[in-house]
Formats: sequence, structure tokens, C-alpha cells
Amino acid sequence: MSSIDSQRRVLSGMRPTGRLHLGHLYGVIHNWVKLQHEYECFFFVADWHALTTHYEDPHIIEDSIWDMVIDWLAAGVSPSAATLFIQSKVPEHAELHLLLSMMTPLGWLERVPSYKDMQDNLKDKDINTYGFLGYPLLQSADILIYQAGHVPVGADQVAHVELTREVARRFNHLYGKSSDFEEIARSAVAKMGKKVGRLYDELRKKYQEQGDQEALERAQALLREQGNITLGDRERLFGYLEGGGKIILAEPQAKLTAAAKMPGLDGRKMSKSYDNIIALREEVDDINRKVKTMPTDPARVRRTDPGDPAKCPVWQFHEIFSDQNTRDWVQAGCRSAGIGCLQCKQPVIDAIVAELTPIRERARQFESNPDMVKAIISEGSEKARDSARDTLHDVRQAMGLNYR
Ligand code: TRP
Ligand code: SF4
Repeated sequence: MSSIDSQRRVLSGMRPTGRLHLGHLYGVIHNWVKLQHEYECFFFVADWHALTTHYEDPHIIEDSIWDMVIDWLAAGVSPSAATLFIQSKVPEHAELHLLLSMMTPLGWLERVPSYKDMQDNLKDKDINTYGFLGYPLLQSADILIYQAGHVPVGADQVAHVELTREVARRFNHLYGKSSDFEEIARSAVAKMGKKVGRLYDELRKKYQEQGDQEALERAQALLREQGNITLGDRERLFGYLEGGGKIILAEPQAKLTAAAKMPGLDGRKMSKSYDNIIALREEVDDINRKVKTMPTDPARVRRTDPGDPAKCPVWQFHEIFSDQNTRDWVQAGCRSAGIGCLQCKQPVIDAIVAELTPIRERARQFESNPDMVKAIISEGSEKARDSARDTLHDVRQAMGLNYR
């Protein structure tokens, strides 16, 4: 596979956590819905990743999977735009994970910040396991097997994408070179013609000697423009550019979600464990009740006490859901005690109801048609598998393992 496709590819996964809430919608799903029209997207349920922390009660994973997939679909993730699948339906992830594990230094995994953090946070669980240590490497396999150039993730996952880049680099370094690589690469340069070849060499030199990123990008663009070279030569020249050999596994980039941070009903981060969520399938009555009982600026004890929106979680919702007019109305009305808190909350309630009503209705349709949901995932998993098989073939080939 060439770097051209990889730049068009997006992959992201979510652990099956059950029904999603507004935090997921604004943190992840809105972004996926947008990306699915701009890139070739693969979105999957990371059920094996869930198993690393829930191996003692794996039965809870199944329901969580379907609840989550229904919410994806209801919120607009579209099986005709993106490939949707379940990790364990594509066993190629596991084989790549195993092969990568052979060449991944233990220290790389032990140093991933989430490793120690999670072990500290999940004190009630015994995750002192081989599988849990390998969590980020399994994630690397997820990404690399689709040659995905972009991985939308939250800040907590950036270190995992970094690890993935290092693993890809190490793999390419170990297995991407053949003894005659330099010679073949030189002849590929020559085949592009004198002028293009010279420009390529100049840019390559600039990048390799001065680390000039722009030169690298220009050279990559130059290669993409060459209509007259073979795919193999193009890959070689991409690899030669960066100093290594042939690129077998593409290095991905984290695509940080610049999403609004969704506060929970109590102003802390929205999270099921804080019991401060509004679910995507929340009923209208419950939305009303939950917002109406939200805490506000503690200084507003009486209706006549002025308040400060900066000290109120409701304001954070206005920042996400309200237009400038409404925000001005809140700012003025709160500070002057011109409006009451219930009044202030009404536009938030209206906005959430308006956003969630179509989602809830679509979710109902999928709930009553589980076969359709399963068919979507089966089809997506088959498609993902085709792509994963191609990479695995190249990986085995590079390692000299295609003998079976
Ligand atoms: N580790 C991710 C999380 O906890 C889920 C995940 C698994 C993932 N594999 C991935 C995300 C590959 C992006 C790409 O959220
Ligand atoms: Fe919060 Fe609005 Fe009440 Fe001010 S008026 S304290 S912003 S709910």
C-alpha cells in the first residue's frame, strides 16, 4: 500500500462502554460524522481492549457492544460512508499484535503513561497481566493493519499513537530493507527522469541532513505527482526519502479532537462514574428533570441574588448549545438577577431536546431491528478484513513468513 492511501485513511476505535452520552457525542461522534465524509474511515468496537480490564466479567461486553453501535448509528455514523466493525471479527489484528510483540522492547510498553495511571486508578481490579501491558501494542496493531494515516483520539491516547509510530519505524527498519535496497532505490530515482530525480535528491538531502520537514512534504508531493512510476518504486522512494528502506507499515498521526469539553450536570467532566450524564437516548422528561435540578452558582440562594455565570455549570452548557444572543441574555440576566435560574435553563433544555429527539427516534428503530444492526457490522467486518489481510500479507512477506 502506498502513502497516498494512508493519508486518506482514518481509523478510530472505542471500547464498548454501553450507551453513549452527550460527552461522547460532542467529544467523539460529531467528529466521526464529519470525518466520514472527508476520509476513508474505519470505526470499530475495541472489544478485546475491554477484555484487558474486564476479563473477569466478559459477559457484560456483549450488550455494551450493541448498545454502543446503535448509538453510533442513531447519531449519524453511517455504514454507507464509513466501515463499521468489531475488532474481534477481524482476527488479523491479533496476528499483527503477536508479530509486533516479538520486536517491541518491554520498556516501551512499561513507559506508556496510561500503564501506570490505569494500574493506580483501577486498584480494585487485578490488571497486572500480560494482556494489559500489551494494551497499547494491540492498539498499534489496530492502527497499522489499516495503514491509517490519521487517528482521531483524545489527549489521553496520544501516547499510544506515538508508540505506534515508533513500532512502525522499528518494523520498517528491521524488515523493510533488503541488501540491494539502495541500488534499487537509485534506479527508481533515475527512472523519474533527470530533472525530477535531481529535485528529489535535493529535497531528500535537505530532509535527511537538516530535518527540513517542508522538504520532506514537498518530496512526498513530488512522488505523488509522478504518474509514470510503479507502485513498488513509489513505495521504495517514499522509504528512501526518510532514510529507511521500504515502508511496510505507515506511521500514523494523532488527530486531536478539538471538541468542546462537555461538562457533566455537576460541572465535572461528564462521565457515567460520576452519575452526571445525559444519555443520547434520554427521555424528554428526564432531560427536563436533570437540567432543572442542576446546581447553579451557589451565590444565588434567592431569586433576587445576582450570580456569576463563570461559577455555574449551566453556563458551560450555554457555551456549547446557545447562540450569542442567548449568551448575552444569560450574562446580563444572571449578573443583575434579572432572570431566574429555571428561566436560564430553559434554552439549554430546548437545545438538548432538539438535538436528542431525532437520535432517540432513530435508536428506537435500530433497537427494534437488531438483525439489521448485526448485518451492518458483519458487512463492515468483512470489508475491514479484506483490507487487514492485505497488510498482513505484506508484513509476513517482509518477515519471510509467507511459507505456509
Ligand atoms: N484505547 C482506546 C480508548 O480507550 C480505544 C482504541 C483501541 C483505539 N484501539 C484503537 C482508538 C485504535 C484509536 C485507534 O479509547
Ligand atoms: Fe447559572 Fe443561569 Fe442561574 Fe446564572 S442564571 S446562576 S448562569 S443558571
